[in-house]
Amino acid sequence: MKVGIESLAVHVPHYYLDLKTLAEVRGVDPGKFYQGLGQEKMAVPPPDEDIVSMAANAAYRALEGIDASSVDTVLLATESGIDQSKSAAVYVHHLLGLPANCKAVELKQACSSGAVGLLMALAYVAVHPSRKVLLVTSDIARYRMKSSGEPTQGAGAAALVVSAEPRIVELGQESGSYTEDVMDFWRPNYMDEALVDGKYSIKVYQRALLRAWEAYASLTHRSLDDHHRFCYHLPFTRMAEKAHLHLVHAFAGGKTRGATTDALAKIRSSLHYNRLVGNSYTASVFVALSSLLDLESDLEGRRVGLFSYGSGCVATFFSGVVLPGYRNFVQAERHAALLREREEITFQRYEEFYNYRLPRDGSECATPRHQTGLFRLAGITGHKRIYERVAAEPAEDRQGTPERKGAVASIS
Ligand code: CAA
Repeated sequence: MKVGIESLAVHVPHYYLDLKTLAEVRGVDPGKFYQGLGQEKMAVPPPDEDIVSMAANAAYRALEGIDASSVDTVLLATESGIDQSKSAAVYVHHLLGLPANCKAVELKQACSSGAVGLLMALAYVAVHPSRKVLLVTSDIARYRMKSSGEPTQGAGAAALVVSAEPRIVELGQESGSYTEDVMDFWRPNYMDEALVDGKYSIKVYQRALLRAWEAYASLTHRSLDDHHRFCYHLPFTRMAEKAHLHLVHAFAGGKTRGATTDALAKIRSSLHYNRLVGNSYTASVFVALSSLLDLESDLEGRRVGLFSYGSGCVATFFSGVVLPGYRNFVQAERHAALLREREEITFQRYEEFYNYRLPRDGSECATPRHQTGLFRLAGITGHKRIYERVAAEPAEDRQGTPERKGAVASIS
């Protein structure tokens, strides 16, 4: 029996800041961001977009054309949680009008809980082949203004339907994992921005990659050459280049110029979307996979290695084989339009969005309306977040089921 990804959709905020603008204001050579970090733009969510609205936007697209009544599990992976108790998955479940006989939970371990959630979903579907799991990863990467992490911010969500009827990638359940208690990046409950020991985090990422690969390789007896492409967790795209070369030089021997060029060719397409969006934490490895599958049309039957790194840290290496006909099911055109139609913002608007705070005392608030996709955070009342469905587009009317459309008016 095959298990894997039946559908995959990405959502990113409509607004972005060009890192040339940030470089100019911060008095930095733009080459440091464009070449040094490999980032050109970073997504900036407006006040009425949060991890729930982004997750619902991605999940809605992932569920198009899929019988939602067979979804009995919603896993939402994030490290930008909006509540200490209630899972963001429950909000998304409601917004999408998913069946009541369903379980919905939130998963957390920095950027790695999405990949771990995927492995859990695969194991579940292997035992219950008639059920489908909706896995949603959604995050907002925030660092202190003027910190070295500032240019590595971003936001986005990726949603996957995991089932025994995969149409895009068949995934193996063998994975190699590595856990180590380190303080390279963390966010205490009382802070809105992550704290990070940047240079140290890069070292730990690379160490964790080698250890996770070793565990995966000893389990599967596969070599690097058995993998046609690789997708990495992408805090910034140069991180993947550094990491992949580190892996290749450790396990494939030799450091010739040709070997480096060949190695980088194996990750190039996976970097494109993240270069334009920035870090999306849990979502980033799936945004990378989406970028690869959308950009390359000759991957049928090819094995793709995936590496997820979550600071703190937990890392996982796993892989899958791209299925025949996958081009019919990837959402390449929609993703291209989503990125193309975004709006560039000024530095002042970036500051305005960054500094916006929802009330923390239970007072009423209606968030200013911006472009968010189909779902938005309308405001807060009595300490409760209120989400609403934005007017539907004709294409959605054609594809949404009456049940789903009826359920998404507004919730509190
Ligand atoms: N033109 C071209 N390149 C330039 C340049 C210029 N004018 N000026 C500098 N550079 C290069 C530097 O040489 C350097 O390249 P190398 O790494 O190849 O030497 C690169 O630009 C970055 O320069 P610095 O190292 O000086 O940058 P920095 O110290 O200001 O910050 C950072 C870099 C540490 C990654 C910082 O952005 C950061 O802390 N980011 C957040 C943490 C992070 O993303 N960590 C990654 C691993 S942890 C993880 O993956 C989990 C997660 O999601 C957070």
